[in-house]
Amino acid sequence: MRAIISGLSARKILDSRGNPTIEVELIANSKAGEIVGHGKAAAPSGASTGRHEVVAFPKGGVDEAVKEIDEIFAKLLGADVSEQGRIDALLRKIDGTRDLHRIGGNTTVAISMAVAKAAASSAKTPLYRHLGKDGATGLPYPLGNILGGGAHAGKMAPDIQEFLAVPVGARRFVDAAFANTKVHKRVRSMIEEKDKTFTGGKGDEGAWAPNLDNLAALEIFTQACEDVSDELGFQIRPGLDLASSSMYDAKKGKYVYKREGKLRDTGEQIEFVLDAIKSHKLFYVEDPLREDDFRSFAELTKKVRNCLICGDDLFVTNVDRIRKGIKLHAANSVLIKPNQIGTISGTIAAVELAKQNGYTPVMSHRSGETTDETIAHLAVGLGCPIIKTGTVGGERIAKLNELIRIEEELGDRARMGNLPFK
Ligand code: PGA
Ligand code: ZN
Repeated sequence: MRAIISGLSARKILDSRGNPTIEVELIANSKAGEIVGHGKAAAPSGASTGRHEVVAFPKGGVDEAVKEIDEIFAKLLGADVSEQGRIDALLRKIDGTRDLHRIGGNTTVAISMAVAKAAASSAKTPLYRHLGKDGATGLPYPLGNILGGGAHAGKMAPDIQEFLAVPVGARRFVDAAFANTKVHKRVRSMIEEKDKTFTGGKGDEGAWAPNLDNLAALEIFTQACEDVSDELGFQIRPGLDLASSSMYDAKKGKYVYKREGKLRDTGEQIEFVLDAIKSHKLFYVEDPLREDDFRSFAELTKKVRNCLICGDDLFVTNVDRIRKGIKLHAANSVLIKPNQIGTISGTIAAVELAKQNGYTPVMSHRSGETTDETIAHLAVGLGCPIIKTGTVGGERIAKLNELIRIEEELGDRARMGNLPFK
């Protein structure tokens, strides 16, 4: 049955930082004029955004984006929601710029996600199955942000942006999600033991933001992962997102660790990261180097075994940059943030390219989020074996709880995603 775009509206809503973002609603009708599909989606926003991402909003911000929705609707009116690729290309054409700065990548991604949701609803199937058909049975391992600092927290918190737990030994998603919350609780009490003045403060994603330096935080965090692994009887491995571009000072040509009071040149940065990987058996390291330094990424990746080196700001979910990375052997994993590229089609292309080349795709939230749960479906539907979507907090559990529901719905067919190693 055809489901044709017959209504599109937009509103300004709050994100988890209290900043404005866009939510859109889309209605699809049958040829006879009956409503057969509905999709609602909201866009997130970053704090440590990559330089090569699409631009989130037009010059006038969310208000301007909302004003432009009627003009966009006029051009989408009558398109069939099952033609995701054609509609996404049309959105790009309506914008007319490479970085989507005219109508904004957050506007296009919200519309694009709403189109996918309307297509799924008109086919009376959940989004993950609409995208991945019967093969969409793999639940992602949740990469949970436990402790952090950098651009997501106050200045006495560690320089490293995210300390991330991956319950690689979990047999079910629900167990994995609760394992992360146990690590989160354990880390709180360990911080309290060390710092009697700890107020329980958290960063933007609900990770603890203690007054600790990187190494003290890493000690506590990895110990907590071990303790909870022992308690639960399955392995929880530690990971980091250094978000290195936020630390890099181009004038000095160095990575500035403000909290630690240290500068590291590129060689020292690679040594620092290698050392952390070896001494703490890290499973995952994201953005260990600045966003344009493909060669140093490659140098690091060459030296590690059984550790995912993931590019976030490096790749910005952009196939041209991922292709360049693959050619240079820059990494072995790609972070996937739909609003970095502005459409579902762009997101699918990035995941496919990564998978074809043995790069592990990691579906991801942003630090500023809404309760939109689309990425939970994208992770299962596109076959990403890992999802980075926090551990606690309403906008984070919106995705985690949706995955718990998906796992339940899949029943006997549910399995955990395929990791390249454990
Ligand atoms: P964001 O970054 O603040 O840009 O969302 C999170 C991340 O670096 O993964
Ligand atoms: Zn990152």
